[in-house]
Amino acid sequence: MPTYSATAIAHPNIALIKYWGDRDPRLHLPVSGSISFNLDKLTTHTQVIFNSELHADALSINGTPADEKSLRRLSNFLDIVRQWSATPLFASVVSENNFPLGSGVASSASAFAALAVAAAHAVNLSLTEQELSRLARHGSGSACRSIPSGFVEWQCGESDEDSYAQTIVPPEHWQLADVTAIVSSEQKATSSAEGHQIAATSPLQAARVADATQRLDVCRSAILERDFDKLASITELDSNLMHAVMMTSTPALFYWHPETLAVMKAVAAWRQSGLPVCYTVDAGPNVHIICLAEAASEVATRLSSIPGVAKTLCARPGPGASLVE
Ligand code: PMV
Repeated sequence: MPTYSATAIAHPNIALIKYWGDRDPRLHLPVSGSISFNLDKLTTHTQVIFNSELHADALSINGTPADEKSLRRLSNFLDIVRQWSATPLFASVVSENNFPLGSGVASSASAFAALAVAAAHAVNLSLTEQELSRLARHGSGSACRSIPSGFVEWQCGESDEDSYAQTIVPPEHWQLADVTAIVSSEQKATSSAEGHQIAATSPLQAARVADATQRLDVCRSAILERDFDKLASITELDSNLMHAVMMTSTPALFYWHPETLAVMKAVAAWRQSGLPVCYTVDAGPNVHIICLAEAASEVATRLSSIPGVAKTLCARPGPGASLVE
């Protein structure tokens, strides 16, 4: 019985300039580019086994069989791998995260990046980094940014072929940290996939998109110059712009909780008093605090004294997705 298997590891990423809104929801072609860095301490480890004896794809996440929606998403993704490789076989996929689901860290990015690398290798598809990034994008847009290493830019591109992510600089270029303040571990009511589709209903989205090239330029140069103040103001502006769009979409999306705003205000005050910190918030209530690595333990201590912060997770810029031999 022929079996083809491979295992890969990938890290989630945190976007400094966000992806919010799709031109093509099926291909996950974004309305603008985005910039992120991978989170080294947080990992998804995925084994893929294509097996001629299977009659359907199977998925287990953290030791539990996946629900129907996740399984359908997996099969849609594996259909692309089957199409690219002309493999008819079904696969069994076992995925483990070392961070809790619902912890405010987007697990779909590392999930589809690890899956893309493992599945492609298992069926002997020899893909370049750009092709792997494109493949991961089919699973979840932000997953394309977890393929390359370090600080990464996803160029929105014109089509499926040229919408992929590339490294701007490697992880060791700048000693930053992301300290995530967990204020809620509840599953969010509206997924980012649904959010991307209604982004254009906000009257603010057109202005946000029109200014995106300028924000990408400022963020990229802040990274290249290691200019923290410049990075802090563009990161907070970009996060606030995305949430303004979310709050003014139809239906309106309010991802913040009262504690989210309390943390954001505290972080802004700490920066005013000289601590190198800024905040960014994804499609959920938890707050990512970006800081110079030397300030990370002070940030974690201060966060733990804010009422409603249940715990913190800390990570540094990390590598891209890779095979586990
Ligand atoms: O890749 P998705 O569909 O999970 O979208 C990610 C959306 C944000 O996390 C809010 C922003 C981003 O660029 O990561």
